[in-house]
Amino acid sequence: MTSNVSLAAVAAVLLALTLAANACTPADREALLSFKSALDERYLGIFKSWSGNDCCTNWYGVSCDPESNRVADIVLRGESEDPIFEKAGRSGYMSGTISPSLCRLDRLTTLILADWKDISGPIPPCITSLPNLRILDLIGNKITGQIPSDVGKLRRLTVLNVADNQISGPLPSSIVDLNSLMHLDLSNNRLSGDIPSDIGKLSMMSRALLSRNHLTGSIPASLAGIYRLADLDLSMNQISGSIPAQFGSMPVLSTLNLDGNLLTGPIPASLLSNSGLNIVNLSRNGLEGNLPDVFGPKTYFTAIDLSYNNLRGAIPKSLSSAKYIGHLDLSHNHLCGPIPNGSPFDHLEASSFANNDCLCGMPLRTC
Ligand SMILES: *[C@@H]1O[C@H](CO)[C@@H](O)[C@H](O)[C@H]1NC(C)=O
Repeated sequence: MTSNVSLAAVAAVLLALTLAANACTPADREALLSFKSALDERYLGIFKSWSGNDCCTNWYGVSCDPESNRVADIVLRGESEDPIFEKAGRSGYMSGTISPSLCRLDRLTTLILADWKDISGPIPPCITSLPNLRILDLIGNKITGQIPSDVGKLRRLTVLNVADNQISGPLPSSIVDLNSLMHLDLSNNRLSGDIPSDIGKLSMMSRALLSRNHLTGSIPASLAGIYRLADLDLSMNQISGSIPAQFGSMPVLSTLNLDGNLLTGPIPASLLSNSGLNIVNLSRNGLEGNLPDVFGPKTYFTAIDLSYNNLRGAIPKSLSSAKYIGHLDLSHNHLCGPIPNGSPFDHLEASSFANNDCLCGMPLRTC
């Protein structure tokens, strides 16, 4: 009995030793320490936990693959529910840069360095040599420079989120090779140039958010071929040309924001008859022609904003047969004639119709 117990104890000690010996390779540990030394986080003290040999245990935001004991995830969020924030009574703030030493963590699958407000410098170009990278999320910092031109090498990348930074330069043409990409968020940067015309190759993509950049050129019609695309936001750029009519036949498109561009031409009839579409903002463009007469009992919009365009003619009567229209804005166009009656219009205010040529009827003056 006694010998059995001590045998078990010896085995447990041996097991612990083996685990300790295996946990965190010295090379990974060195890479992490070098990554840490380029950053400065002084209010929460998250990097105080980055000490000792075993980077796989209790290093804040670091986790390892349990089989290989290689660093797999770095998840550092400047805004989170973690008690460390509550204790400090503030959100995160970090300055410094993203050290290229990170690229030595060649089993990394997740890099999240989000909402630290002041991390600057470029995305290290060597990041494209991390073959297992699935999530790259650097939202809410002050990152500058360009998106690495060979970003397309990251064939496993599912999330690319660098929104709310100061990234400039073009969308690299290799971006269309990210064949696992599901979420692309490049909003609120300084990206310029055209959207690659073959962006439709990103067949897994469900959200493409490119708003608030300096993008030019026209909207690639190939986007309409992305079967899973549900949310497309190209708002507040300098995109010109017309809206591809093919958008009307996208099966799961539910939010389309193209507001604040230089779009011209008509609003495709097929677009407004696409019954899956829920939120459409085409405000502040140069769209012309009549409002297509394609509405009916299947029409259901949470919000439809066509304000600040050059739309002419009357509001089609069919719009009053819509099932639901939460928010409608037709203001600042050249529409004329009576506003249809009907339940979708009952709750709308005069501001929805203001500044047109000669609209009349409720909620404006009587005809
Ligand atoms: C549509 O876009 C405009 C301009 O970008 C914005 O002011 C407006 O609030 C948006 N409309 C809706 C319904 O979100």
